[in-house]
Amino acid sequence: MKPLKVLLIGAHGRTGRLIAQRLHDEAIPFRAMLRKSAHRSEFAAMGAEIVLGDLTNDFSHAFDDITHVIYAAGSAETESVHEQRAIDRDAVMHAADYAKRRRVQQIVVISALSAFYPERSGFALRHYSRMKREADQYVAHRGVPYAILRPGPLSDEPAHGAIALAGELTKHKPEVSRADVARVALQCVTSGINNRMIAFVGGDEPIDIVLDSLRLESAHTFRHAAPTSL
Ligand SMILES: NC(=O)c1ccc[n+]([C@@H]2O[C@H](COP(=O)([O-])OP(=O)(O)OC[C@H]3O[C@@H](n4cnc5c(N)ncnc54)[C@H](OP(=O)(O)O)[C@@H]3O)[C@@H](O)[C@H]2O)c1
Repeated sequence: MKPLKVLLIGAHGRTGRLIAQRLHDEAIPFRAMLRKSAHRSEFAAMGAEIVLGDLTNDFSHAFDDITHVIYAAGSAETESVHEQRAIDRDAVMHAADYAKRRRVQQIVVISALSAFYPERSGFALRHYSRMKREADQYVAHRGVPYAILRPGPLSDEPAHGAIALAGELTKHKPEVSRADVARVALQCVTSGINNRMIAFVGGDEPIDIVLDSLRLESAHTFRHAAPTSL
């Protein structure tokens, strides 16, 4: 069994940096994928390996010796449909392909709650949400153990340590902090929650308890059935 090593894609993003900090705090070896060399020192100071790469090009070199992947990149709110297609869909699909080729043990993808309902999303979110949904479907069928996170609207508030599970029909969507998303992502890695799509918003159910129950269900699902449908 290879020693745990996480590839963090989108390490310099707002959620990515919080995940990097948690990886560092928990002494989990990781490689930060950055597109700008200027951001190296922040991650080198955490003891991370650095790999430079642009998600619109081949980035398979980042996957050497990796056991787990966390995809925390995303197109920025202002970016074009072209960027959304490239970063929120195609690069996620490529990451799943590279992960499959390298026999990575798990890929965790940060998607979005709106991937449940692109058609009902406002104009600004519709294409982005469709790209997220297509990427999620691809990952779920690629044959790499996965956890797909679909958080609702994100905030930069401090970690609350609690969330509420959500779904396609959830109407009330309180913001969830990026710090809590980071915690969920990392716990998927450390507790081996596989072949699950986890949709959530801000709430008051302790993350440990929510994920523990999903882990038990996940073990059951893994033994008896196919992955959760999306
Ligand atoms: N905003 C919301 O309310 C919301 C809700 C649900 C889900 N999400 C999803 O949650 C995830 C994290 O969101 P966030 O707001 O924390 O992200 P963010 O701060 O916007 O960071 C995005 C990261 O993606 C990287 N990136 C973009 N294009 C790239 C490229 N071509 N090559 C390499 N890296 C590239 C950026 O690199 P640079 O640092 O070099 O720019 C940045 O580090 C995203 O997938 C987002 O779609 C967001």
